Amino acid sequence: MTKKILLSVFILPAVMAFAQQYGGMWIPTELNEKEMKDLGMKISAKDIFNTQKPSIKDAVVQFNGGCTAEIISPKGLLLTNHHCGYGQIQAHSTVQNDLLSNGFWAKNPDGELPNPGVKVDFIVDIKEVTDFILEGTDNLVEPELAKKINKNIEVYKNSQKIESYQSIIVKSMYYGNKFYAFTTETYKDIRLVGAPPQSIGKFGSDTDNWVWPRHTGDFSMFRIYAGKDNKPAEYSKDNIPYVPKHYLPVSIKDKAENDFTFVFGFPGKTTEYLPAVAVEKIMKDIDPARIAVREVALKTLDEKMRTDSETRIKYASKYASVANYWKKWIGEVEGLKKSNAVEKKVMYEGSLVAKNHEIKTTLDQLNKLYNDQAPYALNNAYYTEVVKNAETLKLAGDYYDYIASVESGKMEEKELTKLKSKVTSFYKDYSAELDAKVTAKLLALYVNKTAPQFLPAGFSKYKDENQNIPMIEEMSKNSIVTGRSQVNGAALTGDIEKAFSNQDKLIKTLKKDPVYQLYASMKETYMKTADPQFTSLQGKIDDLQKKFMAQQMATDKDRKFFPDANSTLRVTYGKVKGSTPRDAVSYGYQTHLAGVMEKYIPGDYEFDVPKKLIDLYNKKDYGNYKDKTGDVPVGFTATNHTTGGNSGSPALDANGNLVGLNFDRQWEGTMSDINYDPRFSRNIMVDTKYILFIIEKFADSKWLIDEMKVVK
Ligand code: ARG
Ligand code: GLU
Repeated sequence: MTKKILLSVFILPAVMAFAQQYGGMWIPTELNEKEMKDLGMKISAKDIFNTQKPSIKDAVVQFNGGCTAEIISPKGLLLTNHHCGYGQIQAHSTVQNDLLSNGFWAKNPDGELPNPGVKVDFIVDIKEVTDFILEGTDNLVEPELAKKINKNIEVYKNSQKIESYQSIIVKSMYYGNKFYAFTTETYKDIRLVGAPPQSIGKFGSDTDNWVWPRHTGDFSMFRIYAGKDNKPAEYSKDNIPYVPKHYLPVSIKDKAENDFTFVFGFPGKTTEYLPAVAVEKIMKDIDPARIAVREVALKTLDEKMRTDSETRIKYASKYASVANYWKKWIGEVEGLKKSNAVEKKVMYEGSLVAKNHEIKTTLDQLNKLYNDQAPYALNNAYYTEVVKNAETLKLAGDYYDYIASVESGKMEEKELTKLKSKVTSFYKDYSAELDAKVTAKLLALYVNKTAPQFLPAGFSKYKDENQNIPMIEEMSKNSIVTGRSQVNGAALTGDIEKAFSNQDKLIKTLKKDPVYQLYASMKETYMKTADPQFTSLQGKIDDLQKKFMAQQMATDKDRKFFPDANSTLRVTYGKVKGSTPRDAVSYGYQTHLAGVMEKYIPGDYEFDVPKKLIDLYNKKDYGNYKDKTGDVPVGFTATNHTTGGNSGSPALDANGNLVGLNFDRQWEGTMSDINYDPRFSRNIMVDTKYILFIIEKFADSKWLIDEMKVVK
């Protein structure tokens, strides 16, 4: 970044104290150590990542392929979010023994519950392997280029000597300009140790999701077990708790604003290096389209869920996941506007072009490509979201793919079993009548928002949602896709084996099915009128984005670059901070137990509080866990640049002690996936004091605290 831009971006705001210049998801072998130290870090980069001796990375794992978790005792005790362990907690729950509602606390190691299929991955080593992977690719273009790269990756992997429980993953960074090899080590015997009830672990649920001030105790605990030799082993009751190379000491010191923190984990995806035109399209076209579709779906579901408790339970988890990104995108658009992301990028591009005129050609081409792609991209956004959120169409899509697979001779027994179990579990929480309504409304939205050349012939008859409702209801009633009509003497929602018993008959019936036909006409029109152009333009954009990335790195010598997140191990850093997201609104950096009580709504599904927690609050029975205010701190915010996948990541202090557990962002700053801005971007963490307070005082599980190294 040029000095001029830095001035306008970082000096103008009144909240001036920011020394922090960079966001960033840094590869642990290439940290921005200088800024970390300037902001207060006392340890060194070598303490964070070292292959020669134990370092902090030895305590951080990817949890079951998505979230992050960390080791907090010499006996392999693992901490992650409640929402990351949710599936496992749910799997151990029954109506009689509902661990989601009641919580679960093993009394001793024998009481810890195994979770077949769950794994954690350590990162043993990281190497840059760009030269090896790009060997012999100089004069190649796609698709030959990708083929050669994949071949080189295979050769590289085969040339490395690793243990049977290790793997090597090669990942592209900087849009194909660099490649890194990660050696991973996988442990597969992971047992559930403890989880608070949902009324703590998911307190505030959807209403508070992405929102600060926050009062959620979003944590759960597991333990890694190993074979007798401490190496990975399949589950056995004879396995022993894993002895880690390093575990995180847990600090219960008071926090102060501006304390240095860093977050270590597996962020999923960011796009920080797009040209201005791409950001503008996201802000003006793509995000608003997705938001509009989900808004209609959520509103229609909500009307029914409010009046019918069976529907409420059935759709609770789906509603939460549709609402999660709906809310995130709203925040993203607001944040992009507020942080002047497009103007900032335009200025930055001007400064690049002033230094290297060739960049103008790249940018002109990108501008043209994004503008050419815009109508197709918009249709892609609407089509994708409508088909995802109109469940009837989504199901029809599953059967459409099934028929395509059968007819091309590619359907294998294994795939068929997968399909049956996928739709069966989908039908379990599906209301055909309710979804007919959602589908009717989304179809009207689709017709009204889509240019005529992208619509199937005759689709204008669907432009009115009120007229659609009886039409779609009629189709839904006469459809086998919805399970309201039968095939081979059974409903797909009932005896699925019987419904599949005569495949020819099933396929013939599907092809005549009204819902199937509706979907097929949408899909086939989309595949003919939009998808080929969208995809081929995207290929060209990707090629140019690689070039633009390389040009940015070669031209902007003053700037330190980090690669966009791609689910590999990264470090991000910042300071404990409150924020001023809107005019006259200012947020503190820390919440407390008193705030849980302020939000308490007895019997509410989001804001109920367990009686025992209320008792502890009334008695002020806080043990070691109150802070200078006399209350127990619950959550706090900082300027760490995090994203999805950072859930469960440890937040560490200047000395590498655990001070918090990352679980969310403040929605006014969620544009950080595209344009991190330390003025608005805040990650949200559970305070370690709250975690230990819940374990010791609420769950009476001091034996777990005794395992930890608590720093006072
Ligand atoms: N917003 C957080 C994250 O993206 C938490 C999501 C889970 N919680 C929820 N209420 N849906 O992913
Ligand atoms: N809740 C997110 C997750 O599950 C982390 C929050 C974010 O996107 O920053 O990974």
